[in-house]
Amino acid sequence: MHSFGYRLNALLTLGVTTLALMCAMASFSDNFNHPSPSANVQVMNVNWFQKQSSGNDEVSLTLKISADLQSTFTWNTKQVFAFLAAEYETPGNSLNQISLWDSIIPSKERAKFTIHTKNKYRLIDQGSNLRGKEFNLTLHWHVMPKTGKMFADKIVMTGYRLPVDYR
Ligand SMILES: *[C@@H]1O[C@H](CO)[C@@H](O)[C@H](O)[C@H]1NC(C)=O
Repeated sequence: MHSFGYRLNALLTLGVTTLALMCAMASFSDNFNHPSPSANVQVMNVNWFQKQSSGNDEVSLTLKISADLQSTFTWNTKQVFAFLAAEYETPGNSLNQISLWDSIIPSKERAKFTIHTKNKYRLIDQGSNLRGKEFNLTLHWHVMPKTGKMFADKIVMTGYRLPVDYR
């Protein structure tokens, strides 16, 4: 006869092993989810555009952000962190990336949305490079799983341009 303690130990070992296996499977199954998110961002208004006394350009935009990130959610998804970045080139830097807006999306139901918003974070250039500047708006997202590794991807939207004159 095995003692009670021995059997409890065996049961616990089985439990932990099963849990570990389930976590591994959950994480592994994420590899078979091929999400097809979509995004569309319109610059609705340039609220103002100035050269600061420091000499840096700053612009305030009103954006209409539409996105459908529902397909990034699986049963193993805890939440999705999304952020919209303005990306542009300057003589000094091949890639300047400035986050304009971000959000933590807690559920699949909330992953399809349209919002009107001013840029939440300031769009300031380290110099006066923004006049007439062509830029991309890139929606980045990080899928945070309940277990397993994080996934990140993005949609690049091209063809935006800032005004030539301050206003
Ligand atoms: C915008 O994105 C396109 C495609 O990824 C890229 O070729 C281009 O260099 C980008 N433009 C700017 C201004 O960053």
